[in-house]
Amino acid sequence: MSSNDASQQRRAETDARLPVHVAIIMDGNGRWAQKRLLSRILGHEKGAEAVRMVVRTCRELGIAYLTLYAFSTENWQRSKAEVDGLMRLLRRFLKTEMPEMLQNNIRLHVIGRTEKLPLDVQQVLSQTIAATQANTALQLNLALSYGGRDEITRAARALAAEVQAGIIAPEDISEERVASRLDTRGIPDPDLLIRTGGDMRISNFLLWQLAYTEFFVTSTLWPDFDREQFLKILDDFRTRERRFGRV
Ligand code: IPE
Ligand code: IPE
Ligand code: MG
Repeated sequence: MSSNDASQQRRAETDARLPVHVAIIMDGNGRWAQKRLLSRILGHEKGAEAVRMVVRTCRELGIAYLTLYAFSTENWQRSKAEVDGLMRLLRRFLKTEMPEMLQNNIRLHVIGRTEKLPLDVQQVLSQTIAATQANTALQLNLALSYGGRDEITRAARALAAEVQAGIIAPEDISEERVASRLDTRGIPDPDLLIRTGGDMRISNFLLWQLAYTEFFVTSTLWPDFDREQFLKILDDFRTRERRFGRV
C-alpha cells in the first residue's frame, strides 16, 4: 500500500459520516445539449467529464463504492442514433479510463443485462473487469442495460429454479437470500443517492437496494455537475439523521 493509499484509508476511517456507497442517476445530458442547440450525443460526451470527476473525487475521499446509472433497460427505446452513440461513447470511455483505473487501484464491476450490449462493448467490459479485479480502493459499479424490476425478476426466477430442483424450500427464501441473487450481491446498500436533472423519481434504479438510502436531487444537469457541488452534497449527507424505521 502506498503512503497515499494509507492516508486516504485513515481519512475514511476517521470520517465516520462519509457514505460508504454513493449511487448516482446521471440525468440531464439531453437537456444540456438542447439548450445549446447541440445534438443529444454531445451532451452525453460532455457528461463523461463529470463521470471522470466523480470517480476521481470518490477515490480521493476514500468512498468504497460508487454506482453510476449509465443506461437503463428503458433507454433501449431511444432512437437508434442515440443508442449507437451511447454505446460508442461507452466503449471509448472504458478504453481511455482503463489505465487510470489500474493506476488508482479502482475495480470495475457491472450490473444489468450486459448480454444485451453490443459484442465489442461486452469485450472491452470483460477485459477491464478482468484487469481491475484485484484492485481494492474504490469499486466502480456501472449500471448498464440495468432495470431494478428486471434484476428482481431474474433473482425470483433463480430462486424458483432452486426450489424446483429441491436445493432450497420456499421458506428458505429470506431477504438475505434474495439480496444474494441480485447483481449487487456482496455490495452494501447505497447510503446516498444523487439524481441530477431535477426529476424526483427513481426511474427503475436499484429498487430493492434503495430502501433506506438518503436521496438528494439537484436541478443541475449532469454535464454541469462539478466537484464543488458534489462535495456540498457530501457535506449535506453528514447532517442527515438516519433512523432506519426506529425513533
Ligand atoms: C441521462 O441523460 C443519460 C442517459 C439516460 C443515458 P438524458 O439523456 O436522459 O438527458 P435528458 O433527461 O433527456 O436531459
Ligand atoms: C434515468 O434517466 C436513466 C439513466 C440516467 C441512465 P432517464 O432519463 O432514462 O429517466 P426518465 O425517463 O427521466 O425517467
Ligand atoms: Mg433523462
